[in-house]
Amino acid sequence: MARLGVNIDHVATVRQARGVSYPDPVEAAVLVELAGAHGIVTHLREDRRHIQDRDLYILRKVVKSQLNMEMAATDEMIKIAIDTRPEIATIVPEKREELTTEGGLNVISQEKKIGNAIEILKKNGIHVSLFVDPDPETIKMSAKLNADSIEIHTGHYCEAKSEAEKDKELNLIKEAVAIGKDLGLRIAAGHGLNYFNVAPVAVIKDIEEFNIGHSIIARAIFVGLERAVKDMLALIQ
Ligand code: PXP
Repeated sequence: MARLGVNIDHVATVRQARGVSYPDPVEAAVLVELAGAHGIVTHLREDRRHIQDRDLYILRKVVKSQLNMEMAATDEMIKIAIDTRPEIATIVPEKREELTTEGGLNVISQEKKIGNAIEILKKNGIHVSLFVDPDPETIKMSAKLNADSIEIHTGHYCEAKSEAEKDKELNLIKEAVAIGKDLGLRIAAGHGLNYFNVAPVAVIKDIEEFNIGHSIIARAIFVGLERAVKDMLALIQ
C-alpha cells in the first residue's frame, strides 16, 4: 500500500504572509501524523519564503513518522541536512523567481554537483531521493549516481489540458516507474496531485509514496486537516 507524505510548507506560506507566528507548520505536522499520514515533507528554500530554519529544527524534534527535507544541492542546505538529519533528503531544482518547484532536476547536466551531494548526504546516513521528470536518461543517471530513490514529477500530467495529453503523460510516468524499479531505485511521485487527478497515478503499483501538499492544505481550510488527510489516504490506498 502506498504511503502518503504531506507537504506542510503551505501552512508556513499563510504565516509568512502576515509576518506573525501562526499558523504554525509544526502544529500542522502533528495533526497530519495523527490523521494517519506516513511522513512530513518540507522544503527549506534558499530565500526562506515559507519554511524557516526554526521550523525545520523543531519539526526534526517533533516528527515521529518520517521527515523528508526537500532541498537544493547547495553547501548551505547540505550542512543543514547533516545537522538536522531528516530521514530523507529530496534534492530539487530551485529558482528564485518560480512560484513553486517547476520541473525535475537536470541530473545529467549537473552530474558532478548532484553526485557530490548524494555522496555526502548518504555518508551521513540520510536516504537520498532525486526529484526528476519521467525521463529515462535522467532516471538512468540517478541510479548511476547512487541515489536511493527518485520522486517522479507529476506536474505535467496534472497540468495536461486534454485526455490525450493526460494519457501521454501518464504513460511516461508508468515507463519511468518501470525503468526506475528495474534499476533498483525506490519510487515516489508528487507535484500537482489533487483529489480529482490522483487515482490514475495511485494505481501504478510500484509507486511506494506520494508527496502531496497544496491540495491537502487547501481542502483543510474547509474540512480540517484530519479529514483532508484521511480523504487523500483513502484515494491513494
Ligand atoms: N514533491 C516535491 C519535490 C515538491 O517540490 C512539491 C512542492 O513543494 C511537492 C511534492 C508537493 O507538490 P504540491 O504542493 O503541488 O502537492
